[in-house]
Amino acid sequence: MAADEVAPPGVDISTPSIARVYDFMVGGKDNFEVDRLVARRALEIAPDGLEAGRACRALLRRAVRYLAAEAGIRQFLDIGSGLPTETNVHQVAHQVDPAARVVYVDNDPSVLVHGHALLAGDGTTALIEADIRSPETILEHPVVREKLDFTQPIGLLLFSVLHHLNDGEDPGGVAATLRDALPAGSHLAITHFWDPAEEHPETSSRVVEAERVFNESLGTGRWRRRAEIEAFVGDFELIEPGLVPLAEWRPDGEAVAEQKETYYTMLAGVARKR
Ligand SMILES: C[S@@+](CC[C@H](N)C(=O)[O-])C[C@H]1O[C@@H](n2cnc3c(N)ncnc32)[C@H](O)[C@@H]1O
Repeated sequence: MAADEVAPPGVDISTPSIARVYDFMVGGKDNFEVDRLVARRALEIAPDGLEAGRACRALLRRAVRYLAAEAGIRQFLDIGSGLPTETNVHQVAHQVDPAARVVYVDNDPSVLVHGHALLAGDGTTALIEADIRSPETILEHPVVREKLDFTQPIGLLLFSVLHHLNDGEDPGGVAATLRDALPAGSHLAITHFWDPAEEHPETSSRVVEAERVFNESLGTGRWRRRAEIEAFVGDFELIEPGLVPLAEWRPDGEAVAEQKETYYTMLAGVARKR
């Protein structure tokens, strides 16, 4: 910990946090030296890591815009929502419909401390502290039930969160419980660390190293195979172009990412419940 750093009440800065390491990677300011140390180790393996962070947020904006503007989704459940950043889910959704509702969910105290920036102030958005490993708690939460109408389609956002569940924490069961609670016409948007295995063997060996660093420093981080990630979508129907590297999911004219170190290390997809 740097000598001049002061932790907000309830926030532990003696150990790194996923939310704050990611905040650093996407250019945020709500991180501490302990988090930046992890980020720097990751950047040694993947020197384009900051570009990868920007690609994650750009994908999030494209996917939410698609859900609101093209799929007609007016309510979102964003789990593992992260620290507030430049453009948040509700701001993207509100560009399409200012009445769109968003419930943000995260289990990191830092997110709650800084989360006021996630609240639109007009009753459309809310933030709750909850753990995705207990999906029923989220689904039954009074704020979730108050803000979201489970008889109407919901956009379930699982951006970069399931890869922070280890295999023993039943990520498949968690995803299934969440999917099952949604009515027809709902959508699941997902991004996930990807081990491209035989599709890109040279990248595959690098993600093994990244997984080691993440688990040593954060205790989580699973780069899963394509089939494992596809299983999280269950029987929802993947919309075009399917499960693809982030830059290839409905690019919107922003410069297409060069194929650097992280290009084949994450997949993104949006799927619809019939
Ligand atoms: C890499 S960040 C992704 C933030 C945002 N979804 C995005 O894609 O830009 C992962 C977030 O998931 C949260 N998270 C990790 N494990 C979680 C859990 N078990 N329950 C709820 N949130 C979790 C972390 O605190 C962090 O804010």
